[in-house]
Amino acid sequence: MANNVLTDAFSQKLKGIEGWLSPSAAEFTACLFKSERIGNVVEFGVYHGKYLALLYHLTADYNSRVVGFDAFIGAGDLNIPQEIIFRNIREACGDTDRLSIVHADTMVLQRGEVLKHIPEPIGFISVDAGHEADNLLNDISLAAELIAPGGIIAVDDAFNRSTPGAIEGTCRYFEMRNQGRLAPFAQCYNKLFLTTADRHAHFLDATRQYVCKNAPTDEGCANTLKREQENQKAGFVPRFFGWELVTFLGAARMQA
Ligand SMILES: C[S@@+](CC[C@H](N)C(=O)[O-])C[C@H]1O[C@@H](n2cnc3c(N)ncnc32)[C@H](O)[C@@H]1O
Repeated sequence: MANNVLTDAFSQKLKGIEGWLSPSAAEFTACLFKSERIGNVVEFGVYHGKYLALLYHLTADYNSRVVGFDAFIGAGDLNIPQEIIFRNIREACGDTDRLSIVHADTMVLQRGEVLKHIPEPIGFISVDAGHEADNLLNDISLAAELIAPGGIIAVDDAFNRSTPGAIEGTCRYFEMRNQGRLAPFAQCYNKLFLTTADRHAHFLDATRQYVCKNAPTDEGCANTLKREQENQKAGFVPRFFGWELVTFLGAARMQA
């Protein structure tokens, strides 16, 4: 696996946190943070803080504020999930000084309410709360209102066939609301990465460089590069709502 940004020690700590995060998507996220000066960070849908621990770790040098919003669905005592998140992030990252966790339903959350908890610029937003179509339509719209120019939004499960509502809601956002503002540049395992339209070419190029650089040591990147070359030969360009993107392939076998 590509492993030139995250240390084995930190990857092991992340592995110990319950949640959903492909190691390859974690490594690609780390690479994006390494090449950019990211502002403050927001996550919608934290669960036990697996991805948020990664985002916290990656922003340590920039002293970014990191805020997670979660409705804590199914939790009787709201303090318990908050304690779990703080404990997990402290154990993985060493401190939680820059972290806030807010109990909120993103379906009624407004831009102004988010900005009461975190100052602008917001350079990275993880959209990973409810996975029904209405959640995705709402949460990507809210993220679009908050993200700084040139920032990145990671939409979880946007292409996951086991969460068809996430696919539907993502498509509805692009069909009905986007109006050219956000541009997808990479579909990396469980996450679709978007930026603002003016930075699409930059991040598409950075993703291609990442794939080329890691192809010799990472089977997934090697398969992705091979497919890109086949596409070029065939004159096919993978696009999502008109935007060209890199579609990462898995390691074990070429996907259809
Ligand atoms: C898939 S989990 C998030 C996983 C997490 N990002 C990680 O790294 O493991 C979804 C989370 O979203 C929360 N959630 C679901 N619907 C929500 C809503 N409408 N508003 C806020 N949080 C919500 C759930 O309580 C749950 O903790």
